[in-house]
Amino acid sequence: MKPKIFIACQTFPEILAYLVPHCEVDEHRGEDALQGAALAARLADKDAAMLTAVERVDAGLLAACPRLKAICNIAVGYNNIDVAACTAAGVMVTNTPGVLDDTTADLAWALILAAARHVVAADQWLRAGKWPGLRFKQWLGSDVHHATLGIFGMGRIGQAVARRARGFAMRVLYHNRKRLPEQTERAAHAEYVTKEALLKESDFVVLTLPYAPENHHLIGAAELALMKPTAHLINVARGGIVDDAALVAALKEGRIAGAGLDVYENEPALHPGFLELSNAVLTPHIGSASRATRLKMALRAAENLVAALTTGNPPDLVNPEVKRE
Ligand code: GLV
Repeated sequence: MKPKIFIACQTFPEILAYLVPHCEVDEHRGEDALQGAALAARLADKDAAMLTAVERVDAGLLAACPRLKAICNIAVGYNNIDVAACTAAGVMVTNTPGVLDDTTADLAWALILAAARHVVAADQWLRAGKWPGLRFKQWLGSDVHHATLGIFGMGRIGQAVARRARGFAMRVLYHNRKRLPEQTERAAHAEYVTKEALLKESDFVVLTLPYAPENHHLIGAAELALMKPTAHLINVARGGIVDDAALVAALKEGRIAGAGLDVYENEPALHPGFLELSNAVLTPHIGSASRATRLKMALRAAENLVAALTTGNPPDLVNPEVKRE
């Protein structure tokens, strides 16, 4: 009998074509993400699941799904999953590293440019019929070229953001849990600095680090106070790394110039203050959302799933402690 698997979202025909010879597939086709009891009910008879970054997995859910052997996130981040609980339950967890770096870096750059040059607010103003014609001091923004870019989290995505900065002749600073080898720093043309120096010196502070409890509210009121009043904050990482209430206050009072945000605390609910700000560009967690990249992510998750069920050795295993030989 083929193993039974659950996919938490509609993917692509290519993914089903790959999976169907191996498994009996149950794909969730609704718009709303399944959570809690509804998710447990769908997973109760499944051997493995492909989830997105939003379905939450905890010990309670695992207890209700005793057949589960693998949870394959279609995302590089996996803070939606209690990995320790999965390990304790003997459930493999995988993610999709490496396939979304450039696409996510592109979005970081879209937000940098849009925030610096008021692209969205100016578009809305023009559409509202408010343009009286070109005026010399209309919509004056900040230069991106020759400015200083500060990257928090210099993993693959951070390095892809840094590479793009060369075309804008920027100085690139970075801060990371661990300093990178000299050769990698040289390739990224990036200089390692302390968190404080990065916040004080950067014109654009970009967050590309994974969420972990130790970096909850890494950027709060104190950190925002260190930034230049002309600086912008860009977050393509995860909600919760930034204290959204503190950011709304800083933007409202003009203590920093602007923000470009793709992720929020308590998604999809937004801090209501964001909606009133014209100096924040807001996108709905679309960092990796190009067709080609989402296809690669889903395929990678599907390959992890099939490997987990057949060899017990998926390529992107996050908790190798549960590996079955
Ligand atoms: C998306 O947010 C991801 O982690 O891949």
